[in-house]
Amino acid sequence: MGGAVSAGEDNDELIDNLKEAQYIRTDLVEQAFRAIDRADYYLEEFKENAYKDLAWKHGNIHLSAPCIYSEVMEALDLQPGLSFLNLGSGTGYLSSMVGLILGPFGVNHGVELHSDVTEYAKQKLDVFIRTSDSFDKFDFCEPSFVTGNCLEIAPDCCQYDRVYCGAGVQKEHEEYMKNLLKVGGILVMPLEEKLTKITRIGPSAWETKKILAVSFAPLVQPCRSESGQPRLVQLRKSERWESGTRIPRANCWPGTRLVSLYWFLTIL
Ligand SMILES: C[S@@+](CC[C@H](N)C(=O)[O-])C[C@H]1O[C@@H](n2cnc3c(N)ncnc32)[C@H](O)[C@@H]1O
Repeated sequence: MGGAVSAGEDNDELIDNLKEAQYIRTDLVEQAFRAIDRADYYLEEFKENAYKDLAWKHGNIHLSAPCIYSEVMEALDLQPGLSFLNLGSGTGYLSSMVGLILGPFGVNHGVELHSDVTEYAKQKLDVFIRTSDSFDKFDFCEPSFVTGNCLEIAPDCCQYDRVYCGAGVQKEHEEYMKNLLKVGGILVMPLEEKLTKITRIGPSAWETKKILAVSFAPLVQPCRSESGQPRLVQLRKSERWESGTRIPRANCWPGTRLVSLYWFLTIL
């Protein structure tokens, strides 16, 4: 997938091209794309291709095309303080861009199938935090990555404001994905060869919009452990939760500074 816009000489020129072609439409998304150099998520020997509007795959490492990430970031309608779950979080490129918008009161979780890719993402994140000028210019919501199959998330996990899946979702998993969302939340995923945006408008009501024709590698199905039990993926809950304050499931991570302050004071 990709090739929708011309290649850039550098990251800024790639973003200029994505903007001109209307893939990037809002200031927040533009700032996040400019703050993170796509080449930093490539292996050294392949960096020369980083500013082309093309997907890149090497072993288990896989990045989608810039025009796809632009559509995804716009469709997610991100705001500071929201909780975000990235299924198939890969190199962490998208999670880091999202983290720049979520800010210090957000939640930023990623689940990746391959442990070598999770390690790669953690290294890239570490370099970004230590060396990037952008890190000092934004209030960053640092992503946390876990290895596991995202179709086996523990049932007691919180629901999220925003969910993205970076691999093709089979029709039989559509309901599972929709139930990861809080009411009011937005899910973006490739479903039946279309990038699809689903908004949860009520406890059992969702609105679906097809955004773009896409071709994604499918989500890998879980394989059972020797005991026949699923290996459940545990996502780290917020500190408030761990300190013993039970938050009703539908109200996890309410997403406003005011409510964060309320919980902080309650814990004190
Ligand atoms: C196109 S890549 C996503 C890249 C990511 N958006 C980034 O910023 O680097 C899709 C990812 O989904 C992962 N994946 C596929 N099936 C999965 C599953 N069932 N559970 C978790 N991750 C999965 C793949 O290993 C791959 O890293």
